[in-house]
Amino acid sequence: MSLLIRGATVVTHEESYPADVLCVDGVIRAIGDNLDTPAGCEILDGSGRYLMPGGIDPHTHMQLPFMGTVASEDFFSGTAAGLAGGTTSIIDFVIPNPQQSLLEAFHTWRGWAEKSASDYGFHVAITWWSEQVAEEMGELVAHHGVNSFKHFMAYKNAIMAADDTLVASFERCLQLGAVPTVHAENGELVYHLQRKLIAQGMTGPEAHPLSRPPQVEGEAASRAIRIAETLGTPLYLVHVSTREALDEIAYARAKGQPVYGEVLPGHLLLDDSVYRHPEWSTAAGYVMSPPFRPREHQEALWRGLQSGNLHTTATDHCCFCADQKAAGKDDFSRIPNGTAGIEDRMAVLWDAGVNSGRLSMHEFVALTSTNTAKIFNLFPRKGAIRVGADADLVLWDPLGTRTISAETHHQRVDFNIFEGRTVRGIPSHTISQGRVLWADGDLRAEPGAGRYVERPAYPSVFEVLSRRAEHQRPTPVQR
Ligand code: URP
Ligand code: ZN
Ligand code: ZN
Repeated sequence: MSLLIRGATVVTHEESYPADVLCVDGVIRAIGDNLDTPAGCEILDGSGRYLMPGGIDPHTHMQLPFMGTVASEDFFSGTAAGLAGGTTSIIDFVIPNPQQSLLEAFHTWRGWAEKSASDYGFHVAITWWSEQVAEEMGELVAHHGVNSFKHFMAYKNAIMAADDTLVASFERCLQLGAVPTVHAENGELVYHLQRKLIAQGMTGPEAHPLSRPPQVEGEAASRAIRIAETLGTPLYLVHVSTREALDEIAYARAKGQPVYGEVLPGHLLLDDSVYRHPEWSTAAGYVMSPPFRPREHQEALWRGLQSGNLHTTATDHCCFCADQKAAGKDDFSRIPNGTAGIEDRMAVLWDAGVNSGRLSMHEFVALTSTNTAKIFNLFPRKGAIRVGADADLVLWDPLGTRTISAETHHQRVDFNIFEGRTVRGIPSHTISQGRVLWADGDLRAEPGAGRYVERPAYPSVFEVLSRRAEHQRPTPVQR
């Protein structure tokens, strides 16, 4: 099985150059000028377009059981929509119930994900703590290709991890060479504000952002960062949405702490006025956590991307249809939290980031693919255009346009937070494992074609951290 992409401009996180790229058996075999065409090779004309590493979305929730319902997008429909948007890999989340075995939950999610159309991996959430959890974390890292664990600092009375769990789990991550990640919101404050707002008669979606103000995220970000600092672990903050959290990251990084931040296109582009929409179902369609923020936060997030204090873009793709959102008709805190985006992430970021001059094309590649691959130890298998790398690629048409709409998107949900937005710069072709699965609007995704991708422990950041720890090893006083 071979594919030759001719005449495109290869764009990576660090360089761009014209070249042909030959993919054989799912791997990049050759890069160069005027490459010979092997017998039977499919040829794809890349002229006038950029060839970039396929997108990696490090934060999705396909068919997640959450808030009394199940996310409407399954692993096939969601990864297929990703391919239509240029994304060729996802890292989804296994979220065990408190008291549930991590391994049992992991195998459940592996079963669900078998129908994926593109490659996938898993972070595993730590929703409770015990010796068994510690042991199973070890098992997941040693034998199941998991190198990151997620901690929800919000969602009290459900999956929230309190400080004792954070400390125990971060310490265990350090022992295992795994990256702790956090959803940073102070769950106690959110719970308190939700109850208070409802008591005041504030039951609609407009109360959602009021129950999760920016300082609630800033406090949790600061707490997680300082726990990581104290224990000497790296830390990855998912869906950073506020200036407050960003300031904490920037402060920590200025002191040399390896803290990484992820941003969602929605937080870069939408503001909290959406929750005051007169239609209940429209306002509820935007309910996700953390919520969309007042305008000033968006400019701060763009500056975070430009300055290197934010590192990845994700979607937190977690779809609920209008009938599911309606569960919170009389109580905003019961609206299932989540919005879609896997199909739109790359085009929205290109349009608002590259076209506007906020980001270079190289930064775009870093933010949509390479940085994620590096942080979660997939590089250079993913996130790179190199001989030997997986042939996961996107051919980008900088002049192509699309008007985003729930009527036409491939995501299995009846709402799109970017409804009506026209973007310039779209994937004309998406290549997964060397096969063209999206071609000028023709989606050829196949259930089960995606592979589970194991991520080895000890991403490179641990090298420097272990040397630091060695240097700072406590010494007893000899008396
Ligand atoms: O609202 C969201 N983000 N739903 C999915 C769960 C999470 O917090 O990531
Ligand atoms: Zn979250
Ligand atoms: Zn999430």
